[in-house]
Amino acid sequence: MDKFLITGGIPLHGTIRISGAKNSALPCMAAAILTEDEIVLENIPQVKDIDTERRLLASMGAEIDLSEPHLTRIRCATLTDPVARYEIVKTMRASSLVLGPLVARTGLARVAMPGGCAIGGRPIDLHLKGLEKMGATITQAHGYIEARAERLKGAHLVFDKITVTGTEDLLMAAVLAEGETLMENAAREPEVADLVALLVRMGAKIEGAGTSTIRVEGVESLHGARHRIIPDRIEAGTFLVAGAITGGDLIVADCAPAHLGAVIARLEEAGAKVEILSADPVHGEIRIRGNGSLRATDISTEEYPGFPTDMQAQYMALLTQAEGASQVQENIFENRFMHVQELVRMGANIRVEGRTATVHGAARLSAASVMCSDLRASASLVLGALVASGQSVLDRVYHMDRGYERIEEKLRGVGAKIERVRTAPDPAEESFSD
Ligand code: UD1
Repeated sequence: MDKFLITGGIPLHGTIRISGAKNSALPCMAAAILTEDEIVLENIPQVKDIDTERRLLASMGAEIDLSEPHLTRIRCATLTDPVARYEIVKTMRASSLVLGPLVARTGLARVAMPGGCAIGGRPIDLHLKGLEKMGATITQAHGYIEARAERLKGAHLVFDKITVTGTEDLLMAAVLAEGETLMENAAREPEVADLVALLVRMGAKIEGAGTSTIRVEGVESLHGARHRIIPDRIEAGTFLVAGAITGGDLIVADCAPAHLGAVIARLEEAGAKVEILSADPVHGEIRIRGNGSLRATDISTEEYPGFPTDMQAQYMALLTQAEGASQVQENIFENRFMHVQELVRMGANIRVEGRTATVHGAARLSAASVMCSDLRASASLVLGALVASGQSVLDRVYHMDRGYERIEEKLRGVGAKIERVRTAPDPAEESFSD
């Protein structure tokens, strides 16, 4: 179980580069199931969840070539075994993304039911309801969900609740279905639009990506394509907070500033100076300067384009340093305040009541031994440790490795004192990430 040793109090200076979005790479890799041809994906982040998805696809019969870094070639010429086994699904909930494409391509999908999850109950009922409406027969036995359909049929799907992977899963089912699928109340996240861009390159007919109404005209078959994954907006947001919280002067490069609107607005409101040096969607650059005096700011997580739940923990770390009391409302997941007790161990003053946390800021954080509980909670603790006086020890950084590529090297490159101490893996490493 690796640990991070972080010595706080150093303002970060320089340029930090953003990797490809994990949450876009995962559905795009699953989309390779939809064709016999090769799918080439550029800008794939080198993180643990991506390895897990490769294992998952390989276990079904996909050929995967990883000879070049950040590039993955996937060919699903034959899918010998359309099963997502529990051993893999239990480590990554996003494995349910293979459900839709598998039924669409092979007429059968067997996917282990995701179990409990560190950030609240995360059902996949909306994925199943949608597939049923498209004509699939869903059965459940021995911890597995089985979906069968000769050929899926287009349907009118109205999501009761906005779901990101649910929208992606059903989009991948709809592209090979017979006739038109109309999705309402669909997720508008940039990762959904990125998946649509790939599917369209593969020959799919889709309109309305990036809006809450998506129309898909099913086609008989799809072909190979090459696609570049969008920059990771959550990694970019995390480093913007790192610049602001340490009172540094950072350039966050290779990001897509247009995807960071809500985060940038809140950072400015808190008193950080933010400048968009380039708005390019692939090689965009944002400069952030923290002048050492931050103001209390309330946030409330929402679906895109609102403030992302995946940035809530990191932003809370920033609020511990802001003058005054801030309220943080978590509306997407019910149990996403696990970083709070660890931040409190570093000296933060935070009270949680239901889905609202009140942060009394301007706390002097002092280094402590803390435990990472999930992916974004880990990022929050790294940020806290960057301003705490003394050397903090972060345990269970495997959570971080699921979604952040070489974070310690990137932070060291801009002046942070952070070191990884390698130890033997722990069986607990098999828990969920977002
Ligand atoms: C995705 C992201 C995750 C992010 C989340 C919200 C990936 C791989 N993960 O997760 O990083 O935090 O979006 O932005 O892209 N729900 C149901 N039934 C369903 C599906 C979802 O009730 O069938 C509920 C969930 O419990 C949750 C809400 O809907 O309360 C949103 O979840 P969803 O958007 O599906 O999250 P994920 O797609 O799992």
